[in-house]
Amino acid sequence: MNLNDKSTILITCGPSLSDYTKVEVEALGYKITGSSDVGVEIKGNLHDAMRLNLYLKTAYNVLLLVNSFPCDTPDELYKKISKMPWEEVISPDEYLSVVGRIDTPSIDNTMYAGLKVKDAIVDRIMKQTSRRPNSGKERNNVVLQLYWKGKTCKLYINTSGQKISDRSYRKTMTTAPLRESLAAAILMAAGYDGTQPLVCPMCGSGTFPIEAALAATKRVPALLRSNFGFMHLKGYDETAWGDMRAEALKQSKKRGKSGPVPAPIIATDIDSWAVEAARRNAQTAGVDHLIDFQVCDFAETAIPETPGIVLMNPEYGMRMGELKELEETYSRIGDFFKQKCPGYTGYIFTGNMDLAKKVGLRTSRRIIFFNGGIECRLLKYELYTGTKKHKS
Ligand SMILES: C[S@@+](CC[C@H](N)C(=O)[O-])C[C@H]1O[C@@H](n2cnc3c(N)ncnc32)[C@H](O)[C@@H]1O
Repeated sequence: MNLNDKSTILITCGPSLSDYTKVEVEALGYKITGSSDVGVEIKGNLHDAMRLNLYLKTAYNVLLLVNSFPCDTPDELYKKISKMPWEEVISPDEYLSVVGRIDTPSIDNTMYAGLKVKDAIVDRIMKQTSRRPNSGKERNNVVLQLYWKGKTCKLYINTSGQKISDRSYRKTMTTAPLRESLAAAILMAAGYDGTQPLVCPMCGSGTFPIEAALAATKRVPALLRSNFGFMHLKGYDETAWGDMRAEALKQSKKRGKSGPVPAPIIATDIDSWAVEAARRNAQTAGVDHLIDFQVCDFAETAIPETPGIVLMNPEYGMRMGELKELEETYSRIGDFFKQKCPGYTGYIFTGNMDLAKKVGLRTSRRIIFFNGGIECRLLKYELYTGTKKHKS
């Protein structure tokens, strides 16, 4: 089992994010060989998987295909997996977990299938080395991922372990924070590139301003993280990882020193605790000096004169907030856009289109995203000087 050989790499992502993941993957020089709503495929080896883990911001996991084979029963699954030379890639000192998804008439219990995979690998390593790796649910070490669809099993090594979308900067939580990968994709959809001011009233835990500051300075969030699934594999090349990290660090430093200085990023929220949380999270991410934080009602947010992007994620009544009050808030957002943000491009990310109508301005684009299973829209407003009120 040689992880340096080219195989299929499946990069998973949240529903509706694969177009953004594709853009990131192609920018790294890879050719897309397949895609779905929740994933992108390329050809590559463990080295490529490490690189993808380092640079991707909109993805969940980077999975390296180990084997794909026909399979009818759990016993056949066990037999076929125990014939593979796992001792070449997993040390008996490691801890192993197996996750998966099955869609086959052969078996209806994902956990049982996972157990069969785990037993096959652990028994194989025990036979070959006389030692048995530990196993369980923790995803901090070696993670195997099984997809069993119909009569075909695909077994991947999850080289990320924990999702790469879970950055390690968000130590302080507030209510209803956006997943970081979703915020990164929304900023891409809004065309944010760090050259224009970004105003984020209702910043909550700071996901938008922090992701924006990282993007504007080409800082790679994965540099903040010290553990990935691939680090627990026998073929892991620590020197190569160190070189990749150094290269990523050099790029961000170059941008900070000689490249364009990011335009102002402003983050405000009416809740002082949220602003404090956002500030702390930005500190952990190393970008607090790039963000101007303030506690205030969104309508009082100071808007830089040079036009840019104003991006808001108001509550939408599913998880917090009362609808009646929110109607008033959305209507006030329309007034704020119209009166205080002429020349800007306004964006509202919401899961409630009835509330969005209360904004009272014409949208120029509506982009679908899913947030926690809820279909949402990123609504775009061109805020010309003297924007007229229109029905949405
Ligand atoms: C859905 S949360 C935003 C979550 C954020 N995108 C994140 O990732 O953490 C909405 C935020 O709007 C803030 N908010 C509600 N009413 C506000 C107002 N009138 N002015 C400013 N902020 C307000 C809340 O305090 C809350 O933090």
